[in-house]
Amino acid sequence: MILVTGGAGFIGANFVLDWLAQSDEPVLNLDKLTYAGNRENLASLEGDARHLFVHGDIGDSALVADLLARHQPRAVINFAAESHVDRSIHGPEAFIQTNVVGTLRLLEAVRAYWGGLNADAQSAFRFLHVSTDEVYGSLAPSDPAFTEDHVFEPNSPYSASKAASDHLVRAWHHTYGLPVLTTNCSNNYGPYHFPEKLIPLMIVNALAGKPLPIYGDGQQVRDWLYVKDHCSAIRRVLEAGRVGETYNVGGWNEKPNLDIVHTVCGLLDELRPRADGQSYSGQITYVKDRPGHDRRYAIDARKLERELGWKPAETFDTGIRKTVEWYLANPEWVAHVQSGAYRDWVQTQYTGAAA
Ligand code: NAD
Ligand code: DAU
Repeated sequence: MILVTGGAGFIGANFVLDWLAQSDEPVLNLDKLTYAGNRENLASLEGDARHLFVHGDIGDSALVADLLARHQPRAVINFAAESHVDRSIHGPEAFIQTNVVGTLRLLEAVRAYWGGLNADAQSAFRFLHVSTDEVYGSLAPSDPAFTEDHVFEPNSPYSASKAASDHLVRAWHHTYGLPVLTTNCSNNYGPYHFPEKLIPLMIVNALAGKPLPIYGDGQQVRDWLYVKDHCSAIRRVLEAGRVGETYNVGGWNEKPNLDIVHTVCGLLDELRPRADGQSYSGQITYVKDRPGHDRRYAIDARKLERELGWKPAETFDTGIRKTVEWYLANPEWVAHVQSGAYRDWVQTQYTGAAA
């Protein structure tokens, strides 16, 4: 069995679904079900004995200790986090609580459990921490992409909290010998992406006839990876990664935000044309920039490619088409996640722009 934390969120749910599509090894899924956690993402696993869902917090030491003792997982994969940069600017506290304190408590519970395993189980055990390229800070246009040796220069409360958690994971290996692995991935997109993030927000706003809010000049660059490729990278690192190492994950897909939004609009124009025959790109609206907005991220994934033979299966063109098609095919999912709490967030963040 493996323990997955945050497995009802965007990447965690994709990971659990992909894992159980390829393996009969059961998944214990611990998720706090914050606004971002959604059991509907896992609806296809209803009644599947290989999936055991537990509603709870990674910071609840007693709960985690009990789950570890009872289920004896051979690995923990930590997705649980507060993940939205804009929310971290409005309210950093929750990010410190889950991403830093929660990771600390999880590490401590796992260390106690791991310490009690027999020698074989101890050496086979892995704690895989899922992190982000944002810990490395922001790149100038001509800078080389981030390697694993890049200094940590986090700029937002979110990235600072993730950087802190990465440091804790590293220290638990060096000080206590816990067999850890860390992955630092670029921007994901795909099914079940909560529509507070750029790509799903643009799809749902476009279809609702709302403005498409571009922060600043829209020339910030992100490096996009289809979520299932991130999941395959995590599986590969779990299987063959060298203990104590970090692996950057990315698909060499750097694109300015404005290009992304035009691509999404173009696909919607093709697949669900507006009634008036105009392009959805007419809904693009420039709004005030994100404070401290990182200009460019780019991931150098050569270590993962070279050492573990990983490669993404999707290009940006194939992945973004699948993504837009998924949102068009799943209007109920979109309607359900656009709850009162979601509307409050949109109001807070986009007053006068997109709300
Ligand atoms: P998400 O916000 O969609 O999901 C996070 C999940 O964690 C939710 O299900 C939430 O309920 C759960 N959670 C939050 N606090 C918890 C707690 N205290 N205890 C247990 N569960 C808790 O996030 P995501 O986009 O799926 O990201 C997953 C992980 O991947 C995060 O660690 C994030 O930093 C990292 N990451 C994300 C991206 C990206 O582009 N989305 C890229 C690289 C790395
Ligand atoms: O790089 C990995 C990170 O990618 C993950 O660690 C984070 O969890 C994930 O949220 C994501 O962070 P970003 O801040 O890059 O993603 P977001 O979708 O919020 O924004 C992408 C870009 O689009 C960013 O430059 C801000 C811009 N943007 C975003 C929104 C929501 C807009 O222009 N308008 C918007 O309304």
